[in-house]
Order: sequence, then structure tokens, then C-alpha cells
Amino acid sequence: MEYLKLNNDLSIPIVGYGVYKIDDHDECVQSVLDAIEVGYRLIDTAQLYVNEEAVGEAIRKSDVPRKELFVITKVWPDNAGYDQAKKSIQDSIQKLGLDYVDCIMIHQPFGDYYGTYRVLEELYEQGVIKSVGVSNFYPYRLIDLIHFNNVVPVINQVEAHVFAQRLDEKEFMDEHNIVMQAWSPLARGQNNLFKHELLTKIGNNYNKTPAQIALKYLVQNKIAIIPKTIRKERMKENIDLFDFNLTDDELAQIKELGTTHRITDHTDLEVAKGIIYREY
Ligand SMILES: NC(=O)c1ccc[n+]([C@@H]2O[C@H](COP(=O)([O-])OP(=O)(O)OC[C@H]3O[C@@H](n4cnc5c(N)ncnc54)[C@H](OP(=O)(O)O)[C@@H]3O)[C@@H](O)[C@H]2O)c1
Repeated sequence: MEYLKLNNDLSIPIVGYGVYKIDDHDECVQSVLDAIEVGYRLIDTAQLYVNEEAVGEAIRKSDVPRKELFVITKVWPDNAGYDQAKKSIQDSIQKLGLDYVDCIMIHQPFGDYYGTYRVLEELYEQGVIKSVGVSNFYPYRLIDLIHFNNVVPVINQVEAHVFAQRLDEKEFMDEHNIVMQAWSPLARGQNNLFKHELLTKIGNNYNKTPAQIALKYLVQNKIAIIPKTIRKERMKENIDLFDFNLTDDELAQIKELGTTHRITDHTDLEVAKGIIYREY
């Protein structure tokens, strides 16, 4: 496993495990336990996913010491603003049942997220959370947040995959020492990713699947990833990325796949409405 250093001197594994849409409690507990057993040490949940309890239960059940795990949760815009965010974070921490959370993120730059950010800064000062993060912040939102606050977020979790690589945005994050973490790093299988011709062809050079090539491309670009799967064999597949390296030529070919294709384009009014009215 490779690790990426955060701007507060903590580190995160470059490959983590996401639990969006694992709605059933027992299935989520089992999936997180399986993921930890397979070697994942970073778990990504959110208030929106309604599975913080299951994630916490799995972490407490697992044999791996708490300090070896990095747990992320996120505050949804419904809970934005100083008072509501504070209340909702207490609720999240209680649901997780952990003494501290490694990173709490603003899930979306909507609502009074400045109020939320002040709570995160306070909790960070108090040691209740070990780092402050954001998600879905485009550079123009990120620069605003950085300029008008004290703490620079450690991670910006954004949609990124071979079809939406956002390498220019990563450059901007690098300048500010913010790790880019890719959500939907497999593009949820869109654009035929799991059978993609080029990814299959490159995969044949290393006996790897198209999914592994798609993930390795991000990892080799120092983008952290949090693929989701409920299947243990796929969990193993998605983390088994460190016994080969893509050549410069292969990287260049995959770079060509990068389009503006997005699962969620935050500049789209319908997407904004979906977030605001919770039709997500
Ligand atoms: N911050 C945000 O706004 C945001 C938004 C979306 C997601 N996220 C985070 O990012 C995580 C990952 O994103 P995602 O779940 O949207 O998409 P994803 O990881 O790109 O794709 C997940 C899908 O791919 C399948 N899959 C996984 N590995 C596979 C493999 N090796 N071969 C074939 N199929 C495979 C899974 O099915 P099975 O489960 O059936 O294997 C699932 O349907 C989420 O769980 C969440 O933690 C964050």
C-alpha cells in the first residue's frame, strides 16, 4: 500500500473503501469487516449514506487497532450552519461510536457551509476530529474557502475516474497541499469501463482487469481512491494494484480517455436542485 501525506502530517492509504448505497445494516457491517480483513485501512461514509452506525460497529468488531484505521464521514447540506452542523456531527460521532473521527468533510458546497467549517475547525482544535476535509469543491470554491478560513482542508473528495480525470484541478490542489481523493473511481461502470477495449488491452500486459487498470491510472497520478463493492473478491481486486506500473506510453493512452463526462456535474441546475431538495 502507498500512503499520501496530508497537510497536517497525518497520512492516508491511497486506496480506501467507500460504502455509499450499502443500505442494509448487516450487509454494511459485513462489507466493512471484509474490507478491513482484505487490507483496507480507510473507510469513507457520510451522513447521507445512513450507515455510520454499521461502519462504527464493524470498526469496533474488527481486530485491527483503531489507530491503524482512517475513518471519514461527511456533513450533508441539510445540516449546514454552525448550530445544526454541530448537532449533526455529535449525532454522527455517536452513531459511529468512536472516540474520534479521522476526518469530517463538508459533503457539498451548498447551504451555510462556512458555519459548518467553523465547527470543523473548532473540533479539530479540540482533537475530536483529526482533520478537516471537503468534498465536491471546484477550484473556485476551494480558493474562497482557503482564503477566508484558518485551516486548509487536508482532502478534497471529488468525482474522478478515467473519463473525468481532473488533472488540472489536481495541480491546483497540489499547490495548496490538499490531497485529491476520487469518488466513483470506477465511474460506477459507466462507459463500459469493466469491458473497456483500451483498459482490457493494457490489462493483458499485466494480467490485470480493466477495473484495476482504471484504478491504477489514478493511483499512479497520486490521486487517492475509494472504490465501493460488496463482493470480497472485488475488494481484493481493487486493492491489488501495487505489483505493476503503467508505462509512460500507457499512461498517455489512458489520458486520452479523459473527457468532461461526469456522473454528477455540480454546475448543472438539476444536480443542484437534487442536492438542495435531497433528491439524491
Ligand atoms: N463525496 C461524494 O459526493 C461522493 C459521491 C459518490 C460516492 N462517494 C464515495 O465514493 C465511493 C465509491 O463510489 P461509487 O460507489 O459511486 O462508485 P464506484 O466505486 O466507481 O463503483 C461502484 C460500482 O462498481 C461495482 N464494482 C466495484 N468494483 C468492481 C470490480 N472490480 N469489477 C466490477 N464491478 C465492480 C460495484 O458493484 P458491487 O458492489 O456489486 O461489486 C458498484 O456497482 C462511494 O462508496 C462513496 O464512499 C462520494
